[in-house]
Amino acid sequence: MQPQVAVIGTGYVGLVTAACLAKIGNHVIGHDNNPSRLEAIVRGDLPFYEPGLPELLENVRESGALEFSANLDQAISDADSIFIAVGTPASDGGSADLSMLEQAVIDVSKCCKPGAVIVLKSTVLPGTNERLTGILKEHGRADISIVSNPEFLREGSAVEDFLRPNKVVLGSVSSASVQRVAHLYRAIPGIDSLLSFTDPNSAELSKYAANAMLATRISFMNEIAEIAEACGANTNEIRKVMGADPRIGPMFLSAGVGYGGSCFPKDVQALASFSNSLGLKQKSILRAVHDINESQPQRVFAKLKEHLSQLEGKRIALWGVSFKPNTDDIREAPSIKLAALLLAGGAEVVAHDPIVKAEVIASYGIESANSPTQTLAGAHALVLLTEWPIYSAVEAIDIWELLEKPALVVDGRNSLDGPALVSQGVTYIPTGAPIQYAQ
Ligand code: UGA
Repeated sequence: MQPQVAVIGTGYVGLVTAACLAKIGNHVIGHDNNPSRLEAIVRGDLPFYEPGLPELLENVRESGALEFSANLDQAISDADSIFIAVGTPASDGGSADLSMLEQAVIDVSKCCKPGAVIVLKSTVLPGTNERLTGILKEHGRADISIVSNPEFLREGSAVEDFLRPNKVVLGSVSSASVQRVAHLYRAIPGIDSLLSFTDPNSAELSKYAANAMLATRISFMNEIAEIAEACGANTNEIRKVMGADPRIGPMFLSAGVGYGGSCFPKDVQALASFSNSLGLKQKSILRAVHDINESQPQRVFAKLKEHLSQLEGKRIALWGVSFKPNTDDIREAPSIKLAALLLAGGAEVVAHDPIVKAEVIASYGIESANSPTQTLAGAHALVLLTEWPIYSAVEAIDIWELLEKPALVVDGRNSLDGPALVSQGVTYIPTGAPIQYAQ
């Protein structure tokens, strides 16, 4: 018989989980406590941009493998496994706010069938599985067990990451529940070697540790970039040398304007604050990773200030507003942080992004342009912040012609053709590599 699954929460992780679990042979009902959000999803009007997801949703809804219900009882009454993927936003102190998650567990406990398994997809700190198990007991539902199944998908490639994972982590005290959840993933190629069975705390901490490690690599390279700039070395060359070592590997070693998004910034701080709450002597790595990241937009700001002598009255063009390509997510985006510094310094800011909506850009006091070249007319400098492919396709001569002279380009992602720009007469400032002055 086809496994019956419910997914609570239709945010990034919830919607991708629901669609992908349906795609790999399960019957899924998605639920959200916001009915208008569900109606929009059913109309095909998704709350965020994610390549491949609209087509997948249409496909699994047509086949009947995925349904949606705004009624929690209806959504979960037949489900053997209930995934919870509600938000765990950062609270004031940096720790994760679990109130939505706790409420979802209590709501589920009131109407799920005996012996149901709750699967935690939300990123939660160690101890959460145990604490929620305690809450279930207090509500007379000791029959329900909880499996921690952290999600490792990336925005922009979420569907592919879910369907072709490099690991599936399942943490629980109940081996029967773990087997039930593992079965839901059975159709993923090579799944047996991808499954990692562990205890709940290790499953929960592994997610934070993985994100913190990736963020650490980025901040580490951004520190190397600063050293390289000061001594005339090139971080792109250094990355190649380091990446060739199999003990290090080449991924997540690109220096730039820093990491953004809804995960790394929040998770690094939550882990640091968790370590504090355990009474451990405050370690410096996580704080340093965060501080280095926060300083990246300021470094770009300082470069602009140095080269334009003053920013008051200057017009600065930004290419890319989303925190990375293939998403419209601007949470913790370096673009917004840099724009705030520039506006406070008296500059005008004009930006282009292929996906982020003009009204969203305008809400930050940033002028929005319809095309990359439209940002350049009358601008005293161009800053590339998101490496969307559309930007590296713009001809160097067009950049030179449209910018005010002397033409200045700051490449926050090292993705433009520096030599071509320089030969056209542009001064090119890469990240972590020597400045190339106009010829
Ligand atoms: C990240 C993780 O990669 C996922 O595994 C995880 O599931 C997810 O967080 C989450 O916790 O939900 P995501 O936030 O979508 O995924 O973005 P990434 O692709 O990891 O990029 C994060 C940031 O790092 C971006 O701003 C990107 O520009 C920056 N980055 C990445 C660099 O500055 N340098 C690099 O070399 C790589």
